[in-house]
Amino acid sequence: MFEEIRKEFPIIRGSRFGKKLVYLDSAATTQKPEFVIDRLKKYYETENANIHRGPYDLSLEGTKLWEWAHEKVASFINADSYKEIIFVRNTTEGLNLLVNTVGRKLLTKDDIVVVSEMEHHSNIVSWMILQKEIPFKIEYIPIKEEYSLDIDWFKKLIEKEGENIKIVSLVHISNVLGVKNDVEEIFKIAKKNNSFTMLDAAQSIVHCKVDVKEIGCDALTFSGHKAYAPTGTGAVYCKQKYLEELTPWMGGGEMISSVSFKDFEYNELPWKFEAGTPDIGGGIVLGYAIEWFEKALESVGGWESLIKHEQDLTEFFFKQFDGIGWFKPFGPRDSSRKYGAIAFHIEGFTFRGCKNIFNIETNRDGSGISNFLNEKGIAFREGYHCAEPLHDKLCVGPSLRFSLAIYTNEEDLKYAANMLKQAVLQGLN
Ligand code: ALA
Repeated sequence: MFEEIRKEFPIIRGSRFGKKLVYLDSAATTQKPEFVIDRLKKYYETENANIHRGPYDLSLEGTKLWEWAHEKVASFINADSYKEIIFVRNTTEGLNLLVNTVGRKLLTKDDIVVVSEMEHHSNIVSWMILQKEIPFKIEYIPIKEEYSLDIDWFKKLIEKEGENIKIVSLVHISNVLGVKNDVEEIFKIAKKNNSFTMLDAAQSIVHCKVDVKEIGCDALTFSGHKAYAPTGTGAVYCKQKYLEELTPWMGGGEMISSVSFKDFEYNELPWKFEAGTPDIGGGIVLGYAIEWFEKALESVGGWESLIKHEQDLTEFFFKQFDGIGWFKPFGPRDSSRKYGAIAFHIEGFTFRGCKNIFNIETNRDGSGISNFLNEKGIAFREGYHCAEPLHDKLCVGPSLRFSLAIYTNEEDLKYAANMLKQAVLQGLN
């Protein structure tokens, strides 16, 4: 089943720069199936026009497709209505939208935003930028030794600070550690405290079921391009009752219903939050990509089967390093806790971006290893993966990361493991 799906990805079937591509960077962006590529081509060949504006067939049809794509996203994450779905370029834009709408509305001096120590930069820096205008505090839920979030610490913070904690914004699956956080439990506690809850679902959207009602979040964002859709696509979910009250962060065409020299009126939801001409083709094809993924999921036996498959692959990869001391998994070794991202360190080597505090003098430069893997056709990531504070907290330098998707197979991982062993044994630098 999985091998049949793999065949649908032209870039994986083919070769690039004269070598076979072994694509292990799906946490950064997934490859696209033929169906999605063809659908985008069809859009530009036969459907392209601006939406919500023209009285002619092309525009009217495009408008229907744009609205249908919002409905598709809504049903995929179990939102109540397409009115709760705003299309954006990616998770980073989604988080910035929420920070600049929800954050600006709810936060005043001395209020608290709670995030965790394993956040992507976009769930840290976007708050820090707002903090320069509104002096609220940011608190970080600590990571425990076994790489889970310290819920007892969070409970104590709630007891101490109560409703000063206005917003709790967490990553669902870490793009580095690969762990899935118990956001259901944390959000349950947060909601009892009347805090606004929001989720970074960038990684989780294609690695586990994301149901906004089961998770208990008020808002969520994800990237379409990490979910087999074109780059430049993503979505924000936010409960309608909040969207009705929030002030958009961008003004312009489309987000208004009328404008005078003195004032304006907002458009209906969700268009109130979609100023300007969006990535129409990309957004429509995001809807089709979700349709494709739902079918793919069904053909492999559903979420449980996909999760098991990816965890089996992770176990297979780890097993290649049994008894090898220099291979240091970053995050749990227990593959049943991993959801797609496998970061690791190589003892004795440092990688791009390393800071002096991490024994840069005593360790060897690992760039030869990275270059070797690249020469062998392996696509992977090196560095902090946009989660530098996480690496700092755990006192480790930059890591390497291989990451999986529905098309990854044992052959990819066996080859990557063998090439990595070759590079390290040759002592490349
Ligand atoms: N945040 C993306 C990653 O994890 C780009 O690689």
